[in-house]
Amino acid sequence: MSYCYKITGGSSVSGVVDIPGAKNFATKAMVAATLTNEITRLLNVPIIGDTAITESLLSGVGALVERPSHGRSNEVDIKPSTIVSNTIPLPDSGSNRIPILLMGALLHRFDEVSAPFVAGCNIGGRPVDFHLEAMRLFGAEVSITNEGYRAVKRKRLTACHYALPYPSVGATESCLLLGVLASGTTVIQNCAQEPEIIALITMLNAMGGRINFSAGRTLTIQGVNELHGTVFSIIGDRIEAASWAALAAATDSEITINGISPEILVNFFGPYNSIGGGVEVIDKESLRFYRHRELSPVSIETDVYPGFATDWQQPITALLTQANGVSVVHETVYENRFGYVQALNQLGANIQVVNYCLGGGKCRYYGRDYPHSAIISGKTRLKSEGLTINIPDLRAGLAYVMAAFIAEGVTYVSNVELLERGYGDLALRAPFLDIKKE
Ligand code: EPU
Repeated sequence: MSYCYKITGGSSVSGVVDIPGAKNFATKAMVAATLTNEITRLLNVPIIGDTAITESLLSGVGALVERPSHGRSNEVDIKPSTIVSNTIPLPDSGSNRIPILLMGALLHRFDEVSAPFVAGCNIGGRPVDFHLEAMRLFGAEVSITNEGYRAVKRKRLTACHYALPYPSVGATESCLLLGVLASGTTVIQNCAQEPEIIALITMLNAMGGRINFSAGRTLTIQGVNELHGTVFSIIGDRIEAASWAALAAATDSEITINGISPEILVNFFGPYNSIGGGVEVIDKESLRFYRHRELSPVSIETDVYPGFATDWQQPITALLTQANGVSVVHETVYENRFGYVQALNQLGANIQVVNYCLGGGKCRYYGRDYPHSAIISGKTRLKSEGLTINIPDLRAGLAYVMAAFIAEGVTYVSNVELLERGYGDLALRAPFLDIKKE
């Protein structure tokens, strides 16, 4: 695929769109399915680049990943009993963060596992030191080779206590995948509690795991000897849902989304409302977003759940270019997640990125040279006469599409492969947007 999206902006884009299963849970559920030898059926799996990459990782070690013949295209059966390889390949189609999680899962099956270096969006250093430390604490010897990571175990993995240095989503998932089949009772402190983590715990418990979430970000995992297959539905993608909300408010349109529980967006509605976005809960799976008044500036700080999600930062920044006054967005999860604002400025936005902590407390990047706060002065008139903006990372991709719809005139959005890794083919999925592929 090598096309760009040609977008003619400046008018309203009302319509209805189905929200797919969450990318950041579907890929983890696919890995969790390898913890048993029985078949697991996953429902509502999004058809996107990241699930395709994960599918090729699983197939690469020998698992069968199939669509049931009478099922819907977003149902996937994972048959792990055929797994034969302890070497996780680098898929031809690219890479994501999944090999490091699959490595932990396969360590129950093999005495030695190797995985390629993990990639993912270029939004900061994104080390995997917590994952590797978790493997060590569960009893594996871990080394970094020229090709990637290697872990060796001499006996069954054994329970441990690990206080995570930061409530990392991926490292918490690694601990769950390692602890669920380790011998003894594991305690993980300072863990992440994003809805996708809760979904993973629910799925592992449905497979026979014994995992408890206690107060104060603590997980207690009583290791079991084996897990069994299950049928599990992927929760709706709250990141995508919030992006549609931002687009509706930014372009003064009405966008209805289907396929997500409203409560999963509870920590989004407050800031969205303060800006001027409106929400109508239609039923337990549908919501309508609109602009309920002139847009106002806000001060937002991203944080781990239940804070404001870092993956909402880009669409909200695009929305804030249309608010009257000065807004501040302080990114505290990643050190370098404002690379995309340059293109918004080319379209006419007025966004300044600074290295200090703005709008709230000091974050862990305080005093370090990271461009992690943005000052957005609005309202700005965005316009384009055929400008091409090149997507730098997945979540920035939808912010670019939003900016192109806000901007009067024609904008070309290129490098859409990155966007489609997380959102699929937007032109197909949301025909009301009238995106042309060129
Ligand atoms: N971190 C470390 N060491 C580690 C792991 C993480 O220092 O071993 C740091 C990271 O560098 C970062 C912070 O901890 O500064 C948070 O990273 P986290 O591990 O929580 O992120 P992740 O698991 O790699 C997932 C999502 C991201 C989302 C974050 C935060 C997936 C595949 N990715 O990443 O989603 O931003 O959690 O919620 O689940 C996206 O979907 O575009 C995306 C980037």
